[in-house]
Amino acid sequence: MINVLFVCLGNICRSPMAEAVFKHLVAQAGLSDQFHIDSVGTTSYHVGDLAYPGTRRVLTAHGIKCDSTSRQVTYSDLQEADYIIAMDHDNVSDLQSMTRKISLNNHTALLLDFADNTRVRNVPDPYYTGNYEEVYTLVTDGCQGLLAHIREEKGI
Ligand code: 4NP
Repeated sequence: MINVLFVCLGNICRSPMAEAVFKHLVAQAGLSDQFHIDSVGTTSYHVGDLAYPGTRRVLTAHGIKCDSTSRQVTYSDLQEADYIIAMDHDNVSDLQSMTRKISLNNHTALLLDFADNTRVRNVPDPYYTGNYEEVYTLVTDGCQGLLAHIREEKGI
C-alpha cells in the first residue's frame, strides 16, 4: 500500500479537503486498492470534529464525499507515511519540532509543490479567509500533480 498523509493545523479545513479530493482522484484512476490515504492536524484543537461546513459544502458541490473526523498527528503516522504532504510551511516546522527526520524532500513536501497552475506555495487557510472555493481549486491542482508524481515514481 502507498501511504499518503495530508497535514494541516486543525485537520478540519484544508487537509480533510485534500484527503477527500485525492481519494476521489485515486478512485477515478481505479487505484483505490493500492493507497492508504489519511489526514491529520498538528494540533489537538478540533480532535473528534467533522470537517468544517465550508469544506463539506464545497466538496459536496463538486460531488466529492468527505467523512473524516479530526485527529492529531502521531509519531507512528510520520513513520508509516510514504508521502507526508503539508498544506503550508508552518505545518512543516511544527512536524520538524516533533522529529528531526522531517525535511522537504521526496518524503515530505508542500502540496502546492505539485500544482502546475499556481505559484502559491502555502494553501491559504479558509478558517481565516472564508474562501473555500479558492482552496478547492488549489488543492485540486496540487492533488492532480501529486497523483501524477506518485504514479510515475511507483510505476503504476
Ligand atoms: P485547518 O484550519 O488547519 O485548515 O484545519 C484551521 C483550523 C482550526 C484553527 C486554525 C486553522 N484553529 O485555530 O482552531
